[in-house]
Amino acid sequence: MYQTVTEGAARIKAFSGKMTKKDEVFYNTHMKFNRDISVTALKAYQKLSGRTLKVMDVLSATGVRGIRYALECNGIDKVMMNDLNPHAFELIKENVKLNRIKNAEVFRLDACELLSRHKYLIDFVDIDPFGSPISFLDSAARAVSNKGFLGITATDTAPLSGTYPKTCRRRYGAVTFRSDIGHEIGLRILIANIARECAKYDKGLTPVLSFSMRHYFRIFARIKKTKSAALNAIDTIGCLWLCKKCGSRGFAKDAGTKKCPSCKNDTLNAGPLWIENIYEKAFLEKMHGFAGTEQEKKFLEKLIIESEKNAPLYDIHQLAKLSGKTVPRTDNVLEVLSKKGFFAINSITSGHHIKTDASAKEIIGLMKYD
Ligand SMILES: C[S@@+](CC[C@H](N)C(=O)[O-])C[C@H]1O[C@@H](n2cnc3c(N)ncnc32)[C@H](O)[C@@H]1O
Ligand SMILES: [Zn+2]
Repeated sequence: MYQTVTEGAARIKAFSGKMTKKDEVFYNTHMKFNRDISVTALKAYQKLSGRTLKVMDVLSATGVRGIRYALECNGIDKVMMNDLNPHAFELIKENVKLNRIKNAEVFRLDACELLSRHKYLIDFVDIDPFGSPISFLDSAARAVSNKGFLGITATDTAPLSGTYPKTCRRRYGAVTFRSDIGHEIGLRILIANIARECAKYDKGLTPVLSFSMRHYFRIFARIKKTKSAALNAIDTIGCLWLCKKCGSRGFAKDAGTKKCPSCKNDTLNAGPLWIENIYEKAFLEKMHGFAGTEQEKKFLEKLIIESEKNAPLYDIHQLAKLSGKTVPRTDNVLEVLSKKGFFAINSITSGHHIKTDASAKEIIGLMKYD
């Protein structure tokens, strides 16, 4: 049944309840946070760039995302919305009217065709597909303007995170495997992929906010169109090596690290993946000022701390298991590591994941229980 629902500043007609027929137009209330944070990111980008923006929401479904950008963000010149599904196309037009949006253009084209028609012209390209964004990345990289901004969702987290390594290899040309940090690996593989697509057009990518939540990944990145920026991004692609015997891990430029420096066991190498920071602190702080909900504020506060250092991610449960120790409280581990002068924070990933520049051996050696 179609109903009028409110989300952010938008009132949209959307399907509510269990979707059965193929022709129903997709609307997922669980993705509200994804849209909230996207509105906040676009506000921050607009403020920092000082531009009047051309925005393209290429996979629009009901149009809720693009409509929210038009209603909630300042400095929007035009919002283009698009969906190949004819029912979605009609619904987007209806929802644009319902919200009295004057600066919208609605298309019914293949997303790649629409993007390709706008080479270098779009300030913010939003890709929010069913599953993998891979088939849209080349066209998105082409369409985004110099000093533009990208927002990319992926819901194929299982292949990227190591559950289906063959699919990841085929789709993303990257090695992944099951581990205690699968989502971190998957997210970084996706960033590296987007960076490579951009580099083809002499565009360098800087990720400003990248996260994994529920069943999806979301990446926001700034783009700069110079050959050196593109090369810098390519030079930020490497691998993450992991020793499954002692839990050691680290980022490396080349996938050549074959022996664990700690226990000499063979390591596994995931990648190619992004090996530098996946956040930009100044951008997150700007976003915090624009955050529309308490959930976003809390989320950004954690990420601002996490953004201070590009430290490897560890699962304390896994390290305790490997070393035959009882699982300690995360707070205790963080306290001891910080006292010893290490960077150590609880990651947004889970209550028992930490990011630290201490080694696995040091973490295990410092586990305390009172
Ligand atoms: C996950 S939904 C988009 C959800 C929407 N962005 C939101 O936030 O509610 C993906 C949409 O992409 C559309 N789609 C899939 N492949 C497409 C293509 N090649 N070109 C244009 N639209 C496409 C589908 O019809 C579907 O409505
Ligand atoms: Zn080892």
